[in-house]
Amino acid sequence: MNTTFSEFQQKLVDIAQLKSAMAALNWDKDVFMPPKGSGPRAAMLSYLAGELHEKVVSREFLDLLRESKAAADSGALSEGESAIVREVWRDVSREEKLPVEFVKELAQVTSEAYLVWVDARQKKEFTLFAPYLKKIVALKRREADLVGFKQSPYDALIDTFEPYATTEEIAAVLGDLRNFLTPFLAKIRNSKANVRREAIAGDFDVEKQKVFCALVAKKIGYDFDAGRLDVSAHPFSTSFHPQDSRITTRYNPKEIIESISGVVHETGHALYEQGLPAKQFGTPLAEAVSHGIHESQSRLWENLVGRSSAFWTYFYPLLRNEFPAAFGNVSLETFYRAINAVEPSFIRVEADEVTYNLHVILRFEIERAMIEGDIAVDELPRIWNSKMKEFLMLDVPDDSLGVLQDVHWSFGGIGYFPTYSLGNLYSAQFFATARRAIPALDEEMARGEFGSLLKWLRENIHVHGKFYSAQDLAKRATGEKLNSKYFSEYITRKYSEIYEL
Ligand code: CO
Repeated sequence: MNTTFSEFQQKLVDIAQLKSAMAALNWDKDVFMPPKGSGPRAAMLSYLAGELHEKVVSREFLDLLRESKAAADSGALSEGESAIVREVWRDVSREEKLPVEFVKELAQVTSEAYLVWVDARQKKEFTLFAPYLKKIVALKRREADLVGFKQSPYDALIDTFEPYATTEEIAAVLGDLRNFLTPFLAKIRNSKANVRREAIAGDFDVEKQKVFCALVAKKIGYDFDAGRLDVSAHPFSTSFHPQDSRITTRYNPKEIIESISGVVHETGHALYEQGLPAKQFGTPLAEAVSHGIHESQSRLWENLVGRSSAFWTYFYPLLRNEFPAAFGNVSLETFYRAINAVEPSFIRVEADEVTYNLHVILRFEIERAMIEGDIAVDELPRIWNSKMKEFLMLDVPDDSLGVLQDVHWSFGGIGYFPTYSLGNLYSAQFFATARRAIPALDEEMARGEFGSLLKWLRENIHVHGKFYSAQDLAKRATGEKLNSKYFSEYITRKYSEIYEL
């Protein structure tokens, strides 16, 4: 092995150790830390962030990167090593284009903006948040100029979340998706089929929910010797290493599908992390490709598996046994329809599979126009509300149920939203391909066997880390570039049956 490269790789591992230590402290902060720990914890994390920054900008590290880049360019490195250099080079080049004062200003503005957003949302008053959002949009436009872009400044922002993707490509697939969803949703709304979400209401003991959710996570392949399931205010997943990937959820004593779906979603993220190659720890070959691909793994398990009739053929009898008062008189068919009820609603994170992407497309259109300078921040509530009317036929009653509902803009995460829909599209495309490769998939799932599906995902997605770009990975795994056809077909087939269309 090239000695420069092996020194470089060791530095990457050192950096990753620090990042994992910070992730472990952050996980503890959200799961176990007592309230008085918050000050000292912030100091701890800020100290480590400083150490991390110094390592990344150190002369030694940057020299090793440059020498490794030269080795890769001259053909002296293996394909895997070259991919590592390519990805680190990409990240560092972007960082180097941002002056320190700019980075500090953005950090300062977004940390203030987060608190203002929390307050504004609580008071349902967009005008409180607007001055901060104006600053953030101006900074993000400047970031795009500093980083550079070919067509749209929005390209430069998407790039942080979905490397190599462009505004134009995303606009094309989301445009196709919108053209499918709008008329399909209208058909569902006109359906007379008896699909009632209330059929699954009841009281659900939280301790029993915990046991059931853990059983589901284990059954679909989550390795509890390489992870934990805990409780937090907002469900999330985090990973310190492929051998330690954590998930959390929350429990509502009046609702059970929320916690099961939440756990299956986060398990999907964690299965990806547990499937990354441990021996490449610290390098991009042990990192997820993109936000879109990460979300494809969570949505595949949450929706294509976890809301399917095959999945519930196995799990429903077990659920009914645990909660006879709620489900004793509810048939599998009624239950299956209830958990798949389609109902336009204000809040994205509570949306069903059919309407969810319309929430995302709305945000994509708005933030793209904001960054391209076509709409002003003050106009957002009006534009948001008129799009909600157009897409979902809803009248938004106040800003907390509208433009203020998501945290993303407050932390400067402009360009993040489209990755949620890319995740849905990738998930359907992957699942359709896996189904062709595993003809008995439905029968297997109905017996509670998920191993061959997980194996397919491991071999085709997880094991590659960042070796391929998201686009190339999808093409390699499915034979086609990302498109909305598989998702549209999946939704049409499933919901035509449920809604008797
Ligand atoms: Co997710």
